Amino acid sequence: MKSADFSLDVQPRGVGSIGAAPATGAMIEVRGLRKSLRTGAATVEILRGIDFSVARGEFVAIMGASGSGKSTLLGLLAGLDNPTSGSVALNGTVISDLAEDKLALVRGKTIGFVFQSYQLIPTLTALENVLLPYELNDDRGGWKAGVARARALLDSVGLRERMEHYPVQLSGGEQQRVALARAFLLRPPIVLADEPTGNLDSVNGEHVLQLLLRLNREEGTTLVLVTHDPALAAHAGRRITLRDGLVVSDEARGTVTGERSSSRTGSQTGE
Ligand SMILES: Nc1ncnc2c1ncn2[C@@H]1O[C@H](COP(=O)(O)OP(=O)(O)OP(=O)(O)O)[C@@H](O)[C@H]1O
Ligand SMILES: [Mg+2]
Repeated sequence: MKSADFSLDVQPRGVGSIGAAPATGAMIEVRGLRKSLRTGAATVEILRGIDFSVARGEFVAIMGASGSGKSTLLGLLAGLDNPTSGSVALNGTVISDLAEDKLALVRGKTIGFVFQSYQLIPTLTALENVLLPYELNDDRGGWKAGVARARALLDSVGLRERMEHYPVQLSGGEQQRVALARAFLLRPPIVLADEPTGNLDSVNGEHVLQLLLRLNREEGTTLVLVTHDPALAAHAGRRITLRDGLVVSDEARGTVTGERSSSRTGSQTGE
């Protein structure tokens, strides 16, 4: 079977200028990040002091057991949720200091987000869902260019024949790919994705992986992905592992930095 062609050679002017990053400085800077939630009488500490920064163009996989705080962290990075204390800076702007309207603006220009649960609008087709960030952005370029980019992205995730379908007519994996295409529409400098291959079979998971790698490489997108998928994590330049709301290891591919990771199950020697 022939796999889809992933070339994304559509370069619409006007859509491409959004959210350009400066040449230096971290794209994401996380300092002393904590998140607690009250549930009845008890306070649950979900994140207990997280520090790291992500350079422009890095591809970082966030790993860790279910409940370790990965989705909570990603939501804080995107400004979808407020930290109890600590800060997140995106491209030099501390988002926790921003008023809601300012935050929405920065978020819209800086971040593409893929939710663990897709969050597609049921009354919009796949194509319309992908175009949603475009509709919400005020300094957008030509509509035709936006539509061309949306079509190219849907094509690249293997959904050429599904553009006019509504979410209910799509499988979980197809909806996930629509969500992924949507996240990249405005060429945001940062894409955050929660389990982007979590509901895909190995063939489609590989397609999505190739798309992510290509966009990371060709568009210089900074990628932070939550994943349990070893195939996906293996391609990341860096892996940050959470346990009980703390970073327990932060390793670049081939080297180990940050806290020493205790050797896991089995011996892994040799490099
Ligand atoms: N609104 C909430 N109220 C209370 N506890 C919450 C809330 N949201 C998350 N939690 C708890 O915080 C912890 C971290 O949740 P989170 O969703 O970040 O985990 P995760 O690492 O993404 O897990 P998974 O791999 O299953 O998606 C979990 O123990 C969860 O039960
Ligand atoms: Mg999660």
